[in-house]
Amino acid sequence: MAASDQVRLLVVEDVPQVGQYIRSLLNSQQQIKLLDVMSDGAKVAGQIAQLRPDVVIVDALLQGRVKGPQLIGQLHAAGLGVPVIVLTVPQKPIEPDPDIGVHAVLSMPFSGYDLISRIHGVQAAFRETQAVGNSRLITVFAPKGGVGTTTIALNLAVAIGQAGRRTALIDGSLQFGDLRALLKVPMSAPSIVDLPTDRIAEGDLSDVLWRDPSGIDILLAPPRVEQHEMISVRDLDKILSLMRRVYDVIVIDTTVGIDERTLALLDASDTIVEIVTFDSTTIHNTLVMADTFRSLGYPPTKVRYLVNRADSAGGIAEQDLAAAIGRVPEHRVVSDGRLVVQSNNEGVPFVLAEPSAQISQDVIGIANALLVADRPAVGARH
Ligand SMILES: Nc1ncnc2c1ncn2[C@@H]1O[C@H](COP(=O)(O)OP(=O)(O)OP(=O)(O)O)[C@@H](O)[C@H]1O
Ligand SMILES: [Mg+2]
Repeated sequence: MAASDQVRLLVVEDVPQVGQYIRSLLNSQQQIKLLDVMSDGAKVAGQIAQLRPDVVIVDALLQGRVKGPQLIGQLHAAGLGVPVIVLTVPQKPIEPDPDIGVHAVLSMPFSGYDLISRIHGVQAAFRETQAVGNSRLITVFAPKGGVGTTTIALNLAVAIGQAGRRTALIDGSLQFGDLRALLKVPMSAPSIVDLPTDRIAEGDLSDVLWRDPSGIDILLAPPRVEQHEMISVRDLDKILSLMRRVYDVIVIDTTVGIDERTLALLDASDTIVEIVTFDSTTIHNTLVMADTFRSLGYPPTKVRYLVNRADSAGGIAEQDLAAAIGRVPEHRVVSDGRLVVQSNNEGVPFVLAEPSAQISQDVIGIANALLVADRPAVGARH
């Protein structure tokens, strides 16, 4: 089972036998990951912010500084976005009422089946009440090297960040990551290999991500080429699933070619922005990729084509490309050698350095189009 499918559970229980009983019920399965059993109600909100559970169980009879009902009220008021299952005894019946933060009730004694089905049930019901999908994963990919993938990924991420979304950029070019050099980030700045592989918490993310002055957080590739081997597909799945809880939008820069890790990133993506240019090898490579995506079962709407340097003369005409891919490319970005070189030299994305330039306007337009695509009702308007 992919780590991203696991339900992350936090239990608040001060009776050791009950805590131990829940542990034992969850021991022999993988669907639910028990993050912690806490006995101090006063520490729960902080721990939720750190561990980002999907579901929390609170014993209504919790004693101590913060008692059960008080804790349930606090969690509800804090709007942490996590459903709460309240544990009680038959002598003290409680009715589920999401309006006061009681999303489900589990009465003792309960079996492993009761526990697991209640957890899945409350999570599914809660998800439906939330805005569809909390985060967007956009991977920028090209069937050919050197066509501007990194340039577009960086400026797109910054433009999305400027639109008020909490945005992260991942350097998915794990072997020869470009973003460190492009943004003049010191070699000592931590990278994806510095994330713990076992239990990643939000605090780890904020220690490792580079807070760029452009307003986005960047997960850098390792500083040394051979370190890329330390990152497995499973690590990537875990990292993405945690980052999706924290960021509204995640943009990924990739390297050319499809290995199993790039594939994991593409699979996980909501949208693939595929960079093409008007040169003679483009049609061939683009068709090969389209075939690959089709055989992977990606719907056509998952891929959006972006013609980079769309105004510069190349070996093929615009209509040839459209005929080959069976549709007009969704997006285009003009060429601007002067501004791109200057902004790369200064380590300042061109959408910030010269937002009114045509190339910046093109990228900002694409950022807005991607934000409204599929979800017109959600988020800020521009
Ligand atoms: N729209 C554009 N106008 C002018 N120059 C551009 C444009 N887009 C990219 N470039 C230039 O093209 C070169 C390649 O860009 P970039 O590094 O972003 O490509 P890439 O596809 O990520 O390359 P690689 O395959 O090496 O990762 C850079 O010198 C960049 O400045
Ligand atoms: Mg690149």
